Amino acid sequence: MSYENILVHEDNGIGTITINRPKKLNALNRDTIQELHTAFEALDASTEAKVIVLTGSGEKAFVAGADISEFAHFSVEDGGRLAAKGQELLFNLVQNLGTPVIAAVNGFALGGGLELAMAAHFRVASDNAKMGLPEVSLGVIPGYGGTQRLPQLVGKGKAMEMVMTAGMIGADEAKQCGLVNHVTTQEELLPLAYKLASKIMRNSLVAIRGAIKAVNANYEDGVNGYETEITEFGNCFGTEDFKEGTTAFLEKRKAAFPGK
Ligand code: COA
Repeated sequence: MSYENILVHEDNGIGTITINRPKKLNALNRDTIQELHTAFEALDASTEAKVIVLTGSGEKAFVAGADISEFAHFSVEDGGRLAAKGQELLFNLVQNLGTPVIAAVNGFALGGGLELAMAAHFRVASDNAKMGLPEVSLGVIPGYGGTQRLPQLVGKGKAMEMVMTAGMIGADEAKQCGLVNHVTTQEELLPLAYKLASKIMRNSLVAIRGAIKAVNANYEDGVNGYETEITEFGNCFGTEDFKEGTTAFLEKRKAAFPGK
């Protein structure tokens, strides 16, 4: 598969997607969103990629937001469609992907960029990263899930302040408020993401798929997360990974999960 706006490679069981429009600070235009959709689906379906790392190219930005030049002239209907399509194609897809997704935030993560990082299962950041939802400074509000996912991560009061002030926070503050899990230098960012990915890959990826579903269920309206957990817990007992994991423990050896 060849892409114009992103780079995709797979190595040692880790799929890396790099958003690659550095001259536009990796802003998300329509084509980039479509390519990301295709790449995430393809990596999720591949037996090679067990974990996905998402980052931005260049030293300046992860993603500096949705591409403002594409929506500046939109009508009310166009605006609604933009948000709905983007959420469906990319942001909800990433959140609900069965393959773990780690966002490696290597610089500005603003607007749609922070929303994309927040859709990932968790985030690590480089110490130069700056994060914020500046939409109200443009006369619009976050439309790719930011008003929902930011309060889930940092709490309502902090989210309200960030949205209303349209301000940016640095990596250390982002870590302090739970927006990112780890902060490191830019040089060490991908190695850190890969180290975490390798740790994840030692475990049962089937069980992890179930765990992602169960954790996400906590944030879905009308869904009882405890019920989802019970179902997913039960499903594990029918997997080869469960047999291998428990047998290996009892035989005092390391599990070799078939991933089924
Ligand atoms: N949409 C479209 N283009 C964008 C963009 C976005 N969200 N963010 C940056 N760019 C473009 C700039 O227009 C500029 O293009 P040009 O060289 O053709 O003029 C290029 O990327 C570099 O950005 P620039 O503003 O010159 O870099 P900077 O270092 O001075 O400032 C930012 C960096 C991130 C502070 C600034 O680019 C910015 O505020 N971007 C918009 C952030 C935003 O509001 N995002 C939410 C969108 S809903």
